[in-house]
Amino acid sequence: MLELTIALAKGRLADQAIDLLEAAGTDCRVVRAPSRKLILTDEQAGLRFIMAKPADVPTYVDYGAADIGIVGKDTLLEENRSLYEVLNLGFGACRMCVCGPENLAGRLDSIPNKRVATKYPNIARAYFEARRESVEIIRLNGSVELAPLVGLAEVIVDIVESGRTLRENGLAVLDTIASLSARMVVNRVSMKMKADRINPLIQAVRRQLDQAGRTAP
Ligand code: PRP
Repeated sequence: MLELTIALAKGRLADQAIDLLEAAGTDCRVVRAPSRKLILTDEQAGLRFIMAKPADVPTYVDYGAADIGIVGKDTLLEENRSLYEVLNLGFGACRMCVCGPENLAGRLDSIPNKRVATKYPNIARAYFEARRESVEIIRLNGSVELAPLVGLAEVIVDIVESGRTLRENGLAVLDTIASLSARMVVNRVSMKMKADRINPLIQAVRRQLDQAGRTAP
C-alpha cells in the first residue's frame, strides 16, 4: 500500500480538519494524542500527518512532501500554487476584506498612493492592480488592525470573521475581496499515482459534508 501524507495547518483549522477526517472514517488517533511531534505516523493505515505552519501547507503539497493538504483559502490565494483544490470543507468561514476608518466607505479610490498594511501582500497587490490603483504594500505579521490606528497605513487587507476586532478598534469593512473557508488540496502527481487511496478519501469526506449540509463544490 502506498503511504499517504496529509499536511495539516497548525492552529485554528487543525482540530476541525481532524474532526472531519475522523467523521469520514479516517482513523486520526495518532494526531489526537498530545505531542510536539511534527510527523505522526499510523503505520498500519499507511498514513502520515505532518503539522505545518498554515502558510507552508501549499508548499509541502506543491513539492509532493505531502500528498494532501487542508488549509484556508486565504493561504491558497496568497501562495497561488498549482494544486488541485478538490473540496470546500466549509469550516473556517470568513472573508478577505479591505478595511479602514468608516469615513473611507465608498471612497476608497479617493486617496492616491495609499499605504496598505497586510499579512497577504499578493492578494492585496492583485486587488489594487485590478482596480488600477497605485498603492504601497506594507507587509505585517499580525495585529494588522493596528496599522491604520497609528498612521502606518491608510487601509488594511485582512481576514474578517466575526467583525469584532474591527468594531473594537473603530474600523469598518470597505470592500470584500473573497469568501474564504478551509479547502482540501492535492498534489498533481499524487492525484494520479495514488488515486486508489486519494479518491476514496475525497468521496468519504464529500459524503460527510453532504450529510452535514456543508459546502462542497
Ligand atoms: C485574525 C485576523 C483578524 C481577526 C478577525 O487574526 O487577522 O485580526 O482574526 O477576526 P474577527 O473578525 O472575528 O475579530 P488572528 O486572530 O489570526 O491574529 P493575528 O492578527 O495576530 O494574525
